[in-house]
Amino acid sequence: MKIKKAVIPVAGLGTRFLPATKTVPKELLPILDIPAIQYVVQEAVEAGIQEVIFVTGRGKDSIEDHFDAVPELEQILEERGQTEVVKALRQIADMIEVVSVRQKRPLGLGHAVLCARDLVGEESFAVLLADDLIDSDIPCVRQLLDVYEEKKESVLALMRVPAGEVRRYGVIKGQSLSDRLYEVEDMVEKPKPEQAPSQMAIIGRYILRPEIFPILETTQSGTGGEIQLTDGLLQLARKRKVYGYEFAGERYDVGDKFGFVRATIAYALKRPELNGQVMDYLKSIVENRSG
Ligand code: G1P
Repeated sequence: MKIKKAVIPVAGLGTRFLPATKTVPKELLPILDIPAIQYVVQEAVEAGIQEVIFVTGRGKDSIEDHFDAVPELEQILEERGQTEVVKALRQIADMIEVVSVRQKRPLGLGHAVLCARDLVGEESFAVLLADDLIDSDIPCVRQLLDVYEEKKESVLALMRVPAGEVRRYGVIKGQSLSDRLYEVEDMVEKPKPEQAPSQMAIIGRYILRPEIFPILETTQSGTGGEIQLTDGLLQLARKRKVYGYEFAGERYDVGDKFGFVRATIAYALKRPELNGQVMDYLKSIVENRSG
């Protein structure tokens, strides 16, 4: 069966971006003029996903509003002749079907995914984490879906990270099957460098079989006192095969300040109307520093 649904957990408090996130959800902080979450939803749309399930929390209603129509604003812009902007706004509202469910307590990523159980049903589904922006020719989720369609088993996005950074990720031990494909044998959430099974980190894109749900229901809290998706996935891997795919593309961690700056610069350089100015500015900074 074709995968139609994507779960996007957005209940996180965004404490790393306070005070900006005191009243604005971190997912709506913009990379240039587009909120981070829109890039993530766009990736799902381009991968052929038809419905997004936001797992939300208090104060996050404006995320759903962002994907809704705004007739009053459209009318004013129409009257002013700003038809291009109106078109762009309509495109966002028509992008995809959006539903949501509340995560009432911050019990971790595994718990957030479990909250979507009734809305997902007995189907395989995608999970996209909004902190990870991935710029690639083929949408990262599409790359994972291609593996899923062949194997019919769960697939995790993988990226090789420096040894000093493994403690920020779920890290796998896998058997290499082909160029980018691994069969996952073990995984640890946020290991110390000396305990990491490899340098292959899980990045926030997953295709999961529905068998993950009963497992998450009984998964005990792990690292950080939270119910970890990684711990649930390890149990799943003991019952059926779980694959890892080292995706092609550039990933930006916009949940981190430096990652946010990197994404802003990289996405600005991709805009023809900004590229020249931004490049000149960056060069001038480097020249002044070295001069
Ligand atoms: C989550 C997952 C972790 C994964 C990471 C990718 O961690 O728990 O396994 O490696 O996303 O971004 P978080 O960054 O939410 O702490």
